[in-house]
Amino acid sequence: MKERIQSLLKRIDGFSELSEEAIEKFRIEVLGRKGELTSLFDEFKQVPVDLKKEIGKELNIARNKAQEKVNELKKKLKESAESVGRSVDLTLPTASYELGSRHPISIIRNEIISIFSRIGFNVTDGPEIESDWYNFTALNFPEEHPARDMQDTFFIDKDVALRTHTSSVQVRVMENQSPPIRTISPGRVFRNEAISARAHCFFHQIEGLYIDKDVSFADLKQTLLYFAQEMFGEKTEIRLRPSYFPFTEPSAEVDVSCNLCQGKGCNVCKHTGFLEILGCGMVDPNVLDNCGIDSKEYTGFAFGMGVERIAMLKYGVDDLRYFFENDIRFLKQFQSA
Ligand code: PHE
Repeated sequence: MKERIQSLLKRIDGFSELSEEAIEKFRIEVLGRKGELTSLFDEFKQVPVDLKKEIGKELNIARNKAQEKVNELKKKLKESAESVGRSVDLTLPTASYELGSRHPISIIRNEIISIFSRIGFNVTDGPEIESDWYNFTALNFPEEHPARDMQDTFFIDKDVALRTHTSSVQVRVMENQSPPIRTISPGRVFRNEAISARAHCFFHQIEGLYIDKDVSFADLKQTLLYFAQEMFGEKTEIRLRPSYFPFTEPSAEVDVSCNLCQGKGCNVCKHTGFLEILGCGMVDPNVLDNCGIDSKEYTGFAFGMGVERIAMLKYGVDDLRYFFENDIRFLKQFQSA
């Protein structure tokens, strides 16, 4: 019994943990109803009379020490909590989290997708390495067309190249689905061009395709006006200029009114009041037939735009290369978008 009292005293002396849970656990185990002291006092009843005085004294000392220890540690804990409370300055601004942000090209791509999905276009995807058929032949490129030339296209071998536009995805859609087709194809494209403020050897495109019975040029124009106004503001105007693409007939290039000078003329629009944003046209019947769609029954329109170009206009960025350099000072500016 004496030994048990001694080891209990040691435990009491040695205990110094400053946490509410630990103190409470200690109190229950030592002073509690089923604790060590209670059991020692129970045993005390069997102690021979001649030892009762000595052991009783020791037991009382142990009990008092344990109680003191609990009181003392509780007090310390309270004080330290209070002093922590005092040292916190609640008026200080909080440390801000450094959140990542989307790349401006992703922001604009998502916005374009969202604008077209509101009028029923779905999104289709395809490979970046394409065969000659999907990138050129099915799209009515004549055998000797300059775009097939080594200067524009990265060839992997005679029949395989990095796609130069995402029109290739639309050939795959037309081969596999029957009209009505309403789809946009976002993706990375590659062209063998010298890198400058206005050109890069790869960039991002979104191309659109709509095929059904009686699709007309007026539908194309109205769709593009809707897009331009959603993207650049409701006062935006569009202007179509005749152009040429092997896969559309008739073809046009589309300008939007410059939203920096409201069409009055500035440096960005080179004092024309308009900025070129995309190419478009009515799908050439040869393309429909190449892809197994009856050109006597169906007509369609197609358009294609560069995502970087739209981002440059929307954000007033004057050098294409910023988008590919991953300079954090540039990217940070799009944090809230
Ligand atoms: N594919 C063309 C390009 O890459 C864009 C385009 C698409 C033009 C559809 C007309 C119709 O430049």
